[in-house]
Amino acid sequence: MKVLRDPSEMHTLRDALRGQDKTVGLVPTMGYLHEGHNSLLKAAREECDVVVMSLFVNPTQFRPGEDLSTYPRDEERDLAIAESSGVDYVYAPQPDGIYPAGFATKVEVEGLTEVLCGSETSRGPGHFAGVTTIVAKLLNAVDPDYAYFGQKDAQQATVIRRMAEDLEFRTEIVILPTVRERDGLAMSSRNAYLSPEARERATAIWSSLLETESVFAEDGLDAALEAGRRRLEQAGITPEYFEARYPGTLDPADGNGPDPILVAVAAKVDGTRLIDNILIEPKSLKRSDR
Ligand code: PAJ
Repeated sequence: MKVLRDPSEMHTLRDALRGQDKTVGLVPTMGYLHEGHNSLLKAAREECDVVVMSLFVNPTQFRPGEDLSTYPRDEERDLAIAESSGVDYVYAPQPDGIYPAGFATKVEVEGLTEVLCGSETSRGPGHFAGVTTIVAKLLNAVDPDYAYFGQKDAQQATVIRRMAEDLEFRTEIVILPTVRERDGLAMSSRNAYLSPEARERATAIWSSLLETESVFAEDGLDAALEAGRRRLEQAGITPEYFEARYPGTLDPADGNGPDPILVAVAAKVDGTRLIDNILIEPKSLKRSDR
């Protein structure tokens, strides 16, 4: 496995691979790898000739006052995990390689980024502008045939798909299911912040989504959302949002049609901001994220 630190090294590699007619898979990450990241690496390993993992804690997607400076980092461990997952190249640029003096461009997706995590009462649309700008740069630098993202960050996945389509990136965007701890908590690098007590309470997030799913089957969407929110409250968690939306457009869902519904939640548990979601299919009432 090779580690590339400079965008120009990445470009040279890409030119060489193009000559060999190899399919390239990209897994973008901010490191502190866990089984969620690993599932993306495994899929890329199975489907592509060459696997590139990017490792970059992207400063522009953190808002003022967020956890950029304390975001967990352990490059040595990440490189070991990447190597054992069969990654061929880790692209780990420095911030000034990605954003050199004079950098002035922003890639912004409208609408989809103004709800849920993008609303002013949450992280705000600037968060997603940071995400789409870095992902656009990674797609340009690596020019992968496939790029892998997790359903755990459902809104991010929707926004990236929109951007890739709108800007005619030729990369196929692949979205893979959320990987969970045994008790249901969605794996996240930020879980490392949780005290044992908060870690225990955080399991209410997934239970609240399961509760929503089961009440929806019996009593409809409004009752389901109410039940889910109640489950969180019982654990002393006040959600930043707990909403039902259609996954492609992120328009509010009414739950009356046959289309799958995304129920998404963000909540701080003891100061640590966690997100999760569930996809409910009204027709068969079968969840498609397992
Ligand atoms: P990061 O949080 O490191 O996540 C990297 C990728 O792993 C994302 O596509 C995310 O959705 C996926 N992922 C995280 N937890 C997961 C889980 N429990 N199950 C399945 N997939 C999971 O998301 C980012 O980094 C950044 O915003 C990035 C896209 C790299 C841009 O900076």
